Amino acid sequence: SRTVGRGEDGVVTVGGIPVTRLAEEFGTPAYFLDESDFRARCRAWRDAFGSDADVFYAGKAFLSRAVVRWLHEEGLNLDVCSAGELTTALAAGMPAERIALHGNNKSTEEITRAVEAGVGRIVLDSFQEIVRVAHVAERLGKRQRVQIRVTVGVEAHTHEFIATAHEDQKFGLALAGGQAAEAVRRALKLDGLELVGIHSHIGSQIFDTSGFEVAAHRVVGLLKEVRDEHGVELPEIDLGGGLGIAYTADDDPREPQEIATALREIVTRECASAGLAVPRISVEPGRAIVGPTAFTLYEVGTVKELPGLRTYVSVDGGMSDNIRTALYDAEYTVALVSRTSTAAPMLSRVVGKHCESGDIVVRDAFLPADVAPGDLLAVPATGAYCRSMASNYNHALRPPVVAVADGAARVIVRRETEEDLLRLDVG
Ligand code: LLP
Repeated sequence: SRTVGRGEDGVVTVGGIPVTRLAEEFGTPAYFLDESDFRARCRAWRDAFGSDADVFYAGKAFLSRAVVRWLHEEGLNLDVCSAGELTTALAAGMPAERIALHGNNKSTEEITRAVEAGVGRIVLDSFQEIVRVAHVAERLGKRQRVQIRVTVGVEAHTHEFIATAHEDQKFGLALAGGQAAEAVRRALKLDGLELVGIHSHIGSQIFDTSGFEVAAHRVVGLLKEVRDEHGVELPEIDLGGGLGIAYTADDDPREPQEIATALREIVTRECASAGLAVPRISVEPGRAIVGPTAFTLYEVGTVKELPGLRTYVSVDGGMSDNIRTALYDAEYTVALVSRTSTAAPMLSRVVGKHCESGDIVVRDAFLPADVAPGDLLAVPATGAYCRSMASNYNHALRPPVVAVADGAARVIVRRETEEDLLRLDVG
């Protein structure tokens, strides 16, 4: 991030604070999140989309009360996908009308809490849910604003996307074959629902805007069908999240402005040719906002050289604080940050301390050959889907999240304790 430097003694500093001091004060492993970078990214999205569009931060990437307050202050909305995320959002004072509830299997209890709280939008994901949300709303004497999530037949993976007729996955209702149109038909008939739009999310860690453009084209196609069949112009479309970030030097992410311009152009053009008023656009970035803002700090415990192969450098965390390498073969970089070294680079694998050989943090990295126990390593770009997917495997204590701002650091999510573990174990 922009506030990283290196002091004269070779120690990396974050917002002016040496990482050695951060490690002493907060322990390792720990996530350090740059609050000003987070806020700047929120503003970049806000400004790129402007006042006639909405940006919903996807809370699944990382959510805490401090994050909710920052989002609120920076004028973003929030996408939640469980009662737990909803509770966190409301507890931190996010106005309910700025919250959207997602999920392919929301419970009646979750729906009830969301409708009672007055969330601005529930994104419907199945035929059963259309009825379920309508019943809850009617019982509470309310009319719930909803969108219908559709699958547009675009599978986007990093640099490529494939436009197909069908998608074989659990989310949404398919445009192809008419399920999405049938969902609209049913939703429009129910008193408890106010159908305001169509939602599409095409994937994650995407670098190319063309997948979004195909999705926008197909969603506008449905808006036109709906107008022709029902005489109703749905006023909103949401094109989901998924914008990629740079985990390694090979990644070349798009800027919020590029995606905003591309979406606006295609939606405007398609609506003009269909004779539709341009709907209000919204997007749901998670990773692109929080991912680059945090790094994980680890301490090296052991170094094991496998002659002719590589050197295994074990750190004090692992798959419990970053499952992404094991789960998705995700790529990360790593740097020695507690000192400089002139030793030759050595092919290394940074691994954790868990009882599993797949417990890899960084598969291939060149670390200085003199890397030794006690050294501190930093893995950048761990702000998204690392703390939020952290586990207690081997009864590991999930690391804290420390916000760094204006040269000061403060804990926003504390480290788990053994008491926390024992409190849940009531046997
Ligand atoms: N909106 C919807 C409806 C989503 O399902 C998602 C992500 C997002 C927005 C945010 O996507 P983002 O901008 O963060 O890519 N655990 C995986 C990512 C799963 C994302 C699921 N949905 C990972 O660690 O890469």
